[in-house]
Amino acid sequence: MKNIAVFISGRGSNLEAILKKRSSGYIECSIPFVLSNKADVLGLQVARKYGIPTYVIDLKSFPSRKDFEAEILRILSFHNIDMIVLAGYMAILSKNFIESFGKAIINIHPSLLPSFPGLNAQKRTLDYGSKFAGCTVHFVSAEVDGGPVILQDVIPLFDDDTEETLTMRILEREHLLLPEAVKIISEDRFQVIGRRVIIEK
Ligand code: GRF
Repeated sequence: MKNIAVFISGRGSNLEAILKKRSSGYIECSIPFVLSNKADVLGLQVARKYGIPTYVIDLKSFPSRKDFEAEILRILSFHNIDMIVLAGYMAILSKNFIESFGKAIINIHPSLLPSFPGLNAQKRTLDYGSKFAGCTVHFVSAEVDGGPVILQDVIPLFDDDTEETLTMRILEREHLLLPEAVKIISEDRFQVIGRRVIIEK
């Protein structure tokens, strides 16, 4: 059974989606801790509700990004973590961090990558006039939102969509997609060929 660390920065609704599927037995993994780079966020309460220990590791408390990431790597190694899930973790992980960890890191992003990487993806999808939106779970590489795609889900845009309605409709799909990707990756049911992630059924 894999040891998975979940990183958050906020509300933690994707974290809760994973924890629910784990409680129901759909995903079998151990989650030794949830790490937030921000104190007092709702997601930390979500973790505690499910009895998961938490760490708050804030970049501002360290002299440099290097020291901040060294502390996170120390915690990952202490808990023997096999995989990191970024569930609304709103900070960049350096190339050095990704290489030093050396195992799978996956992220959920609220657009159909490679369209609209980075911040405010839902608003940018709407403002662009796209007819479809969605979400993507991908492996994390040094390029922001640029690693191989694991799963995507698509929804249509409606003429009366606002940033809020679109964000909520995408989020509902995120809550299905991220746990599914966690299940696939934690069961080692995939192969990466070039940029293509082939999922074994
Ligand atoms: C989600 O929309 C996710 O795609 C993005 O940040 C948001 C996090 O929401 N990366 P939550 O903290 O999981 O509720």
